[in-house]
Amino acid sequence: MGVKGRAAFAIIFIIVFICSLWLHGGLENWDYCLKVYIQNQQSPSLYGNNVSEEDMAPLGLCPGQKFQVGVLLMHLQAAPVSTDDVLLEPYLASWDELIKFMDSLGPLVGFISQEIEAKTSIIRELAQKEAELKGQAQDKEATAEEQVSGTSISKGEPTHPSAGVVGRAYTSVHSMIKEELAQGLVDFTQPQASGCRTLLRLHRALLWLQLFLSSLAEEQSEAGRARSPSELCRDAYRVTLAQHHTWWVRKAAEIAFVAMPDRAFFYRLVCVDTQKEAAAILNRVVRAIQKVYNRTQIALEEHGMLELP
Ligand SMILES: *[C@@H]1O[C@H](CO)[C@@H](O)[C@H](O)[C@H]1NC(C)=O
Ligand SMILES: *[C@@H]1O[C@H](CO)[C@@H](O)[C@H](O)[C@H]1NC(C)=O
Repeated sequence: MGVKGRAAFAIIFIIVFICSLWLHGGLENWDYCLKVYIQNQQSPSLYGNNVSEEDMAPLGLCPGQKFQVGVLLMHLQAAPVSTDDVLLEPYLASWDELIKFMDSLGPLVGFISQEIEAKTSIIRELAQKEAELKGQAQDKEATAEEQVSGTSISKGEPTHPSAGVVGRAYTSVHSMIKEELAQGLVDFTQPQASGCRTLLRLHRALLWLQLFLSSLAEEQSEAGRARSPSELCRDAYRVTLAQHHTWWVRKAAEIAFVAMPDRAFFYRLVCVDTQKEAAAILNRVVRAIQKVYNRTQIALEEHGMLELP
């Protein structure tokens, strides 16, 4: 194919891609992203040059933007529990913040974040459904007991014992795996919506972001040309998520990464001015992600769930 042919192909591809985004409602984010971008342009630095000394302290808020790296870090650090488990509520809350992060990278990356948002909703809905079922079952038991004993005097128990502990099976990665296996909800041969399958999708995406953020932190400490965030993100994608995506999704993703903002944008996003300060913050986030990722990886691996269809 000649140069003209390739250009025509690229244009047709972009048109098809934009149309498909539009069909799926993906362009609704456009306006929002532009607004976030403009706000970010105006956000002042909060940390000055004092980041490394406060490495262990919680991060403050960056005014004028949705994504808050301090909130992300807080949720990530709240997720690991006992020696090998991960709590689902802070895990999903971390994803909420990572979705804001992706949305601020430009309207095109938004099509990936929408996919992820849909996944987090699946687990939340499963948890809610489970909590409701448990609540109903307990109500029925209570009614049956009352009928048997012929008295309806309350024993002082709350009517909804499950109300406080929303979806006990969906409390942590291990409890979810155990419950879904026991209920026969995990299909190892064909795609079927389950918490485990959905977690695996999120887990794969988390590795991509972990690699991207860690390369963003490392860059410039090495000799040679500093590579752009867009290249770093594409490379991280190629060795992680791309392995699980179809050709069309891969091409769309790579186009999305081309339009990614420059390095200075990422400094503003975490409220710093230099690469060194950004690296300090990003590395904290990467370490927190690693801890969560490693635990989830081991849990999924133990149950042969790394290749769930
Ligand atoms: C940096 O933080 C320390 C406390 O951690 C404080 O004493 C010092 O004044 C700060 N320096 C600047 C330049 O803000
Ligand atoms: C996570 O696992 C990787 C590879 O196994 C390891 O290099 C890294 O130190 C681990 N990180 C944490 C925080 O456990």
